[in-house]
Amino acid sequence: MPMRHFLNTADWSRPELQAMIDEARRFKASPKGDVLKGKTVALLFLNNSLRTRTSFEVGINHLGGHAVILSPSGGMWPLAFEDGAVMDGEAEEHAREAVKVLSRYCDMIGVRAFPKFTDWEEDRKDKILSAFAKYADVPVINMETITHPCQEMALAMALQEKLGPLDGKKFVLTWTYHPKPLNTAVANSALMIAAKFGMQPTLLCPSEDYILDKRYMDQARMDAEANGCTVKVSHDIDEAYSGADVVYAKSWGALPWFGNWAPEKEIRDAHKHFIVDEDKMAKTDNAVVSHCLPMRRNVKMTDAVFDSANCIAYDEAENRMHVQKAIMKALAG
Ligand code: CP
Repeated sequence: MPMRHFLNTADWSRPELQAMIDEARRFKASPKGDVLKGKTVALLFLNNSLRTRTSFEVGINHLGGHAVILSPSGGMWPLAFEDGAVMDGEAEEHAREAVKVLSRYCDMIGVRAFPKFTDWEEDRKDKILSAFAKYADVPVINMETITHPCQEMALAMALQEKLGPLDGKKFVLTWTYHPKPLNTAVANSALMIAAKFGMQPTLLCPSEDYILDKRYMDQARMDAEANGCTVKVSHDIDEAYSGADVVYAKSWGALPWFGNWAPEKEIRDAHKHFIVDEDKMAKTDNAVVSHCLPMRRNVKMTDAVFDSANCIAYDEAENRMHVQKAIMKALAG
């Protein structure tokens, strides 16, 4: 079987992803195993993490493997990623060598590398993940760059646990306020997985400026069409929440203002009312609600909604560990 990476769910078919979720359900019922016995997984964190780091490290341990955590604050050499880079700056080592060497020690590599938030045309190339995928001789897992496929899988699993088959369910991805412009990764991923699993996705956001990158909108539209659905974009809160089966909350920075964040903040500050609250949830069809976490309480979602029985954020967070085990098992062959 040829080596595969887990970089984006778009690279995997719906049956393949469903098989991983089914496997994750088995891991949830019976967490321990020896799938990674004698294997080592390098986890490179160029950004902070609570859930991703812990769920991977614990999950690898459960399966008999060993995790090596790498981070700049942990003493790693600063890396260059560009092909042909003239390395006369901070970087001491090129990703090319680093990845090749890690491939000699380790059986899999996870990468977390957020955008730099100055130029979306550059960030959308996902250069760090691409360099790892290009140079690694072992499978690479995206632990969040400009998409967050492990989060997508955990969300799909949690929704299936709560709602059963997802086909035809109304899935509302709502932009919410946050004082800072955040990564679009989870929003891209949430929209794509909803479309892939046959839901009716609605992207609710303040204006056209907050529509996601065309690459992910097109992928979601293509998958939705294949399932007989349509991706809707709405700027009308009442219309979007009406009849929803799922409300997924996330904040992100507007792409047309990428790197020019002062004017974007003025627009964002005028839309604090996008908070997920009890009045909005009352318009839904008793929808389940979730967030990838970390989440600013009473900014993105009220305490009453987050702490309600309809909120599945803890299930989604727990499922990270189970789906990641299934992903590693699939990649380990
Ligand atoms: N949801 C998620 O990836 O959480 P962390 O950033 O804490 O890893």
